[in-house]
Amino acid sequence: MTERGTGVVQGPSPAPVEDDETWTVLRLMRWSGEYLEGKGVERGRLDAEHLLADVLGLERLQLYLQFDRPVVGPELDRFRPLLKRRAKREPLQYILGRVGFRELELEVDRDVLIPRPETEILLDEVLAWSRGLGVEGLEALDLGTGSGAIALSLLREGPFSRVVATDLSEAALAVARRNSEATGLSEGVEFRAGSFFDPVADHESFDLVVSNPPYVAEAEAPALQPEVRDWEPSQALFGGPDGLAAIRTIVAGAGVHLKPGGMLALEVGSSQSGPVVALLESTGEYTDVRVRRDLTGRERVVLSRRAPTTSTHST
Ligand SMILES: C[S@@+](CC[C@H](N)C(=O)[O-])C[C@H]1O[C@@H](n2cnc3c(N)ncnc32)[C@H](O)[C@@H]1O
Repeated sequence: MTERGTGVVQGPSPAPVEDDETWTVLRLMRWSGEYLEGKGVERGRLDAEHLLADVLGLERLQLYLQFDRPVVGPELDRFRPLLKRRAKREPLQYILGRVGFRELELEVDRDVLIPRPETEILLDEVLAWSRGLGVEGLEALDLGTGSGAIALSLLREGPFSRVVATDLSEAALAVARRNSEATGLSEGVEFRAGSFFDPVADHESFDLVVSNPPYVAEAEAPALQPEVRDWEPSQALFGGPDGLAAIRTIVAGAGVHLKPGGMLALEVGSSQSGPVVALLESTGEYTDVRVRRDLTGRERVVLSRRAPTTSTHST
């Protein structure tokens, strides 16, 4: 772990530097930010602010209106363990137990991947396509639902009335279920435990099959941030030696569960769009294959539609 910066006060917990000095919001923000940055945390100051705001029951920006507010004993007692956890590179979202994702606030813990901005791009594409159909009551299959971020956003924002969401992890599904209840969307979603299509009957077909699958190549593990590698569930991250194992399974199985003209939408790793496009085209089951870039220009979303001529088990 890199120790960066100068003047960083090392130590497990903040304590008054001198007897006549008390901790104020501003001093604590500065000290804690430097402390976290000294532990290798990017944007340590921002994370310190989030944690302090949480302890004080404030919005983060309200801290800026209360720089001189003293932070007293019980508040410091609540703040210290949170700061220690972040210094050990536990993700901020796990410490807070929640994350904002599009229009939803979702519970997250170590059983689920923290939803990412790339997944919002996947949803932008899917929602634009689904709204363009001009019909309500669409049905979707979300493979590897994790916290439920995709499934619940489809119900909240799109013309979807029903989403079937599968995950191999029962623990992840428990979090997703709680999120569906907390967001008032539980009626529209059906969570099923099992590997990708296993909990889906052959005759079930959907307007959309969507997935943000595990797609990191195993060899890339050492290069991941400690927050990801050491804290997020490996089952949510790794897709076999080349990262494409889950995507191969999904591409091979989605056709049978898509209505003619239905969309298969996948989030992929930044070097995977070429192989995934080739995979889709090689099946002869998909048409209109296209790729969408993220804000940094990397190709992160692959979209396709089921060719109308493909045979199906749909009823
Ligand atoms: C990258 S995470 C995506 C989570 C969530 N959909 C999101 O976008 O934030 C992948 C998810 O797939 C699940 N998963 C991994 N292998 C699976 C499998 N064989 N069948 C079903 N789900 C699987 C993991 O448990 C994890 O929740």
